[in-house]
Parts: sequence; structure tokens; C-alpha cells
Amino acid sequence: MLLTNPCVFAAGDTYQIFVPVKKESVMWVKIGDKCYYDEANGVLRSLSRVHRITVPVKALDEAKKYTVCNQEIKGRRKAYFNKMKPLEEYEYAFTPVTGDEVRCYHISDTHNRVEEPVKAAEEFGKIDFLILNGDVPNHCGNIKYFNSIYEIVGRITGGNIPAVFVRGNHDIRGSYAEIFGDYIPTVDGNTFFTFRVGNIWGLALDCGEDKPDTNPEYGETICCHYFRERETQFIERVADCDCHKDETIMKKIIVVHNPFTMQYKEPFNIEEEMFTHWARVIKEKIKPDLMLCGHLHRTGIHPVGGDIDVFGQPCTVVVGSKPDDNYFKGVGYIFRKDKTDVIFTDSDGKREEFTVD
Ligand SMILES: [Fe+2]
Repeated sequence: MLLTNPCVFAAGDTYQIFVPVKKESVMWVKIGDKCYYDEANGVLRSLSRVHRITVPVKALDEAKKYTVCNQEIKGRRKAYFNKMKPLEEYEYAFTPVTGDEVRCYHISDTHNRVEEPVKAAEEFGKIDFLILNGDVPNHCGNIKYFNSIYEIVGRITGGNIPAVFVRGNHDIRGSYAEIFGDYIPTVDGNTFFTFRVGNIWGLALDCGEDKPDTNPEYGETICCHYFRERETQFIERVADCDCHKDETIMKKIIVVHNPFTMQYKEPFNIEEEMFTHWARVIKEKIKPDLMLCGHLHRTGIHPVGGDIDVFGQPCTVVVGSKPDDNYFKGVGYIFRKDKTDVIFTDSDGKREEFTVD
């Protein structure tokens, strides 16, 4: 039995399909005649309750449907003559992002909430893809907390459209933070990567923790400065590549939990030099249209040179998440060639509409 609908995450030139299950099982996804397995060097994975199957974007975009094949293991996996339960098959239609009017909803900082963010997204209406931008589980203290990711994505997308997942600072906390990467989309094991959904090109960035690595809160378990140095090399590589220069790209977006071009008070005033460098490289070489952030637990549209632009915003920054008691506000986007509608909606059914050129 599947616990939620599949979550089809876009990362690099793949879709990474995550499916949580109730019982120990093996899984593969069928697209046309081809099977793509959740495997580890030829062994079907069954120890994790969340399956991950990587498929080429092109294959799923063309087929527009896929079948999740799940087979529970009868009793414990044996060294020889293991027995399986009957095969379960679940068919899903899939609609890739197409066209010059692309609707997307952005959710972050849900901190374990599911109902309220789903309601806020429903208030925005039909979407072509979904973005989860960090701090979705409150922390990684237990693997079961990861399920709120699949619940939100499974309910909003129905397994029928793509999603994007970016890590936030709370995702770095707790005993299981080091294996979080097995439960979310990554490229070469990294939580920073590029993605493409239709004519939207995206750069997913990860600022790591929000205080110095030596902060006692982290109990000497963090080396985010080292991680960000690796990420700097990645950003420079992406900036110099042709991947964001394709003529078919309509909009370039940066998706990052922390709006890193603003100045924070101590102890949050970290990496100012490095973040200035990131912003400069992105602005000069990538020239993005919009930067989508969360983290601040409020919403707002911040143009270049505006109230939070201290380290050189590469473009307009939209901060789009406000969690509260039994409440959530997120943001919907309608990307068009010449402009983007930015529509904040909340779980109480309120909307505020803006347009960014
Ligand atoms: Fe955060």
C-alpha cells in the first residue's frame, strides 16, 4: 500500500519519484515498456519506507503517464527463496509543464503543518508545478517527520504534475539530518542543483544553517561553511555554463529558503562576503527574473535596491510563507513572457494580488 500519491520532483535532467509505503516492499516505475527500479547496484531496495525512482524527464514528459509497481515482502527478506506478496500496480496520469503561462504554488516553513498549506494552495487554484522551499518538517529528529513532505506534495499534485524541493535550515537539525538527502531530490548527492520544468529554468540553492557552525545550538555537528564553499564552486560552474542561455527559456528563477542578500542581526549575520559573491555571480552571469524565498515567516515583494537589499540582490525577491496557529499563507505565481503575477493566498481563503514586470 502506498502511503501518499507519488511525488515527482524535478532535479537536474531527471524526475525523482518518491513514494512512501506502509510496509516493507520493493518498487519500480513503468513508463511505456521500460521499468525504472528503486535499486542499489542491482539490489531492489526494501529497507527504507520511502522509495526513490529516478527517470529521465523526456521519457515521462512524452509518455504523460506512469505506473507505480509495488510488491510487499512476505515476512522478513531472506538470503534465499524470499517470498513476495502479489504485485500492486497504480496508474498515474502526468502533465508536464508546457506553454507560456505557467502557474506554480510556493510553500515553505510549514514546520509539520499539512492541512493549512494544502488549503492555501487550493485557494490559488490549478497549478502546473509546486515548489516546497525548506523547513517543511520541523526538524529531522525522526524519519516519520519526513512524511509531511510527501503528504503535502501527494495531496496538491496528486502525482500528476512535477514539484521542486529545496532544503531549509531546520532540515539540517536532528539525528536523521545526515540521511535527509536519501528522502529528498538531490543531484550527485547535493541539495543544490539546477532544474527545468517546461520553459522555466531554475537554480535551487541551499544556504545551510542560519548561524555560525560553532553556535552551541548545533552541538558541534555542523560544517555548513565547508558545504557552502562547495556550493560556491557549483554556482560559478552553473554561471559559466550554457544551460541557462537556451532560447526556449521564458523565465529564470532562483529558489532558495533563505533570502541571503539581506542583512541579519547577530548571530544570524553569517557568510556576508560569500553571499555577496553568490549574488554578484548570479546577477552578472545568470540574470534571473525572480528569487523565491521563505524563512522569514512573513510575505512580501522586495525589488532590487529595496528594504532588504544589502548584499546586491540579483533580481526581485519574493518572500512567500507565513505560518501561524492553524494558519498558513503561501504564494502563487503565474509566469508569463513579459510579467509575473504574484498572488498570496492563505488557509482562511484570502488573496492579495500583485504583478512584477
Ligand atoms: Fe528557515
